[in-house]
Amino acid sequence: MASARLLFLILMLSSVTFKTSAQRLLELECQPAAGFAGKETKISCSFKTVIGDKDITISGLVITKNGQKDVFFSWLDNVNKGDPRVKLSSRTDPSLLFTNTTVSDEGEYEYKIMTNRGMIKDGRFSLRVTARYSDPVTSWSDGIKEGGSAELYCRASGGYPEGAIHWFDTTGTNWTKNAKLDITETSDKLLTMSSTLTFTSIDLSWATFRCVVLNGKFVKEGEQTFKPIAKDAPADAVSGDKKNLTNTQIIAPVVVIGSLIVGLLFTLIIFRRRRSNQARRVSTLPILNYPGNGTENHYTEVEQGHTANPTQNGEVIKIKP
Ligand SMILES: *[C@@H]1O[C@H](CO)[C@@H](O)[C@H](O)[C@H]1NC(C)=O
Repeated sequence: MASARLLFLILMLSSVTFKTSAQRLLELECQPAAGFAGKETKISCSFKTVIGDKDITISGLVITKNGQKDVFFSWLDNVNKGDPRVKLSSRTDPSLLFTNTTVSDEGEYEYKIMTNRGMIKDGRFSLRVTARYSDPVTSWSDGIKEGGSAELYCRASGGYPEGAIHWFDTTGTNWTKNAKLDITETSDKLLTMSSTLTFTSIDLSWATFRCVVLNGKFVKEGEQTFKPIAKDAPADAVSGDKKNLTNTQIIAPVVVIGSLIVGLLFTLIIFRRRRSNQARRVSTLPILNYPGNGTENHYTEVEQGHTANPTQNGEVIKIKP
């Protein structure tokens, strides 16, 4: 009887020691996971064991997210509870699948797992999520004119985590220091980055401007080039800003004034030709008719005609005294 009791005790103790050592010797190792918003993310996990017996079968698991009271996901007695997007890879693979990953899934998790070889209470994994920013949308303040103040805007939304927006002009000058970046959170922790680049005196020869969107790893994710054009250029021209005159506004008066000058020149030329023709007709006729002194006679006639006026004036003067 005593030997049987001893044997039972030994068996009990050995089973206990076997169980505790199995618990220590069985570990869960998970790789840090990186997922994309809206996509499926795999959390790669595996058992580490020195038992030798690799035939491990999972019978249950409980996942809790750090900072949350409620269980994030559990699978016990073949019943799923918690987030329906989570799935165990297989009964022999502790890896997990997150379908439709969201930015709010990012964080640290505790992963308790029950197997036929014992229970792992200290499993954990981390998940980082990134979301791609939309292509940047650009705009600019009203009434931009050469030498005036101007604000240029560049906005990219739906991304995560926080990145940056950098500014360059056509010469490659980096204007980022003159810009202010605002970051706002929209639904589901997604971010909108809005950058405002302010000029107190803009040189429009610097256009085209380029805004570059960088993601959380400061890698270029998108860019947009644009020329800020004064939307109210004709109104400015009316107010007398000559620098803002458009080509057509300059050409139109040039054409009008030019045609006036050309017209004037033509009338002048025609008038002169008529006069010289008249003079020639008068002067040539005598040459043809009276070869010799005919021209001299004509000029004396003209001179006489001209001197006629002073004599008239002279008569008026004579009346006065
Ligand atoms: C542009 O300027 C910003 C802010 O000063 C800086 O962080 C960035 O590295 C610069 N980019 C280039 C391409 O020089």
